[in-house]
Amino acid sequence: MKIFLIGFMGSGKSYWGRQLSEKLMLPFFDLDKQVESNEGKSINQIFEEKGEENFRLLEKDALHMITESHESFIIATGGGTPCYFNNIDYMNNAGITVWINTPVEILFQRLLKEKSSRPLIKELSDDQLKGFILKKYADRKIYYEQSSITIEEENKTIEKIVEKLFHE
Ligand code: S3P
Repeated sequence: MKIFLIGFMGSGKSYWGRQLSEKLMLPFFDLDKQVESNEGKSINQIFEEKGEENFRLLEKDALHMITESHESFIIATGGGTPCYFNNIDYMNNAGITVWINTPVEILFQRLLKEKSSRPLIKELSDDQLKGFILKKYADRKIYYEQSSITIEEENKTIEKIVEKLFHE
């Protein structure tokens, strides 16, 4: 079973990924962490030194590496992963994609506190951050919507997520 969690930055992919991994007893991978360990650099450093375009290539390579070298896993992808190359089709063909959909207001409150580790938002003022989230979320929705399963805010309990995974 290959489960790919997708969704905007701050949507809770890593949190729910860990919860699911415990519940289903499957190994958990965090795609950003995998890219960082492959490169020996932080995501911020990779963006600064190599640029976003290069990061997207590294991200795709790490996604393929994990997917092709493990039979079963849960992976928390990066917020942009499904939106580049054919990554969303690739993930849908390899397994189940789960969109952790989180209201923009909640994303905003979380990302206000977690800006510094994320190169796309770390330089933005609080006001700019809100505008950025609104626009980026609207741009990316068409990719997230291609997921096999969507988890909305009101259904975010481990029991409900597992039920959706096995009954849809
Ligand atoms: C990004 C999201 C980040 C990370 C990078 C770019 C994005 O991952 O991959 O900073 O394009 O939305 P998280 O969604 O885990 O923050």
